[in-house]
Amino acid sequence: MIFSLLLVFFYSAVVVGYVAYCWETYLNRSRPDRVVYYSSNLKEQGKVLEAIIKKYITARGEATADYALVEPGAGFAHMARFLAQKYTWREIIAVEIGRVVLLIGRLLSLLRQDHITFIYADIFSYTVPQKSLVYCYLTSAIITRLYQEGKLNGQLVVCLTFTIEGVEPTEEIELKSWQKRIQVYDFREASPALKAASPKQRRRLKQ
Ligand SMILES: C[S@@+](CC[C@H](N)C(=O)[O-])C[C@H]1O[C@@H](n2cnc3c(N)ncnc32)[C@H](O)[C@@H]1O
Repeated sequence: MIFSLLLVFFYSAVVVGYVAYCWETYLNRSRPDRVVYYSSNLKEQGKVLEAIIKKYITARGEATADYALVEPGAGFAHMARFLAQKYTWREIIAVEIGRVVLLIGRLLSLLRQDHITFIYADIFSYTVPQKSLVYCYLTSAIITRLYQEGKLNGQLVVCLTFTIEGVEPTEEIELKSWQKRIQVYDFREASPALKAASPKQRRRLKQ
């Protein structure tokens, strides 16, 4: 009897969650910074992220434990969760503007006990902590604005599919899937002049 009740409760929660999720997606459809709720493909992109972490952090003699892992526009924070299981981080932060998605992400993290801090915020009002690995699956318009506002200064930034307009990536990795590419932008060692410059000026400074 109790088992049947739990089962009914579980399926009702799944149905209600799914309807709320679709409704929120529908409500967000006309946002200028609307992002399609597609998730990263962990099978493919997880492996690429591991290679990037090796190349840009551990192979340089640095420890992931010194870095914060930040996923702006985290959705359910699948990538942050994947990387939380593989490495030790100073802190893991998932920033998300969708309440329902955030709630589901929080519940998943509660079940997995992965210590991700979820922040309900517009990423433009959030300050990325110093020395972070920032994983973005957001439109070019959003990432470019984050960059122009200086929010990515000094960070190691990894972008899936969408690129920072007008900025040469440190490395581009082609993917086999429809998500096309991953770009690495290593802004950690940019000179102060380069950090402060606008994208147009940056191109000139780099030449
Ligand atoms: C394409 S999904 C990526 C989800 C996740 N990062 C992944 O890779 O699987 C983009 C997410 O960004 C969120 N988002 C869009 N604009 C945002 C903003 N201004 N502030 C915070 N989150 C935002 C959306 O709600 C959506 O969940």
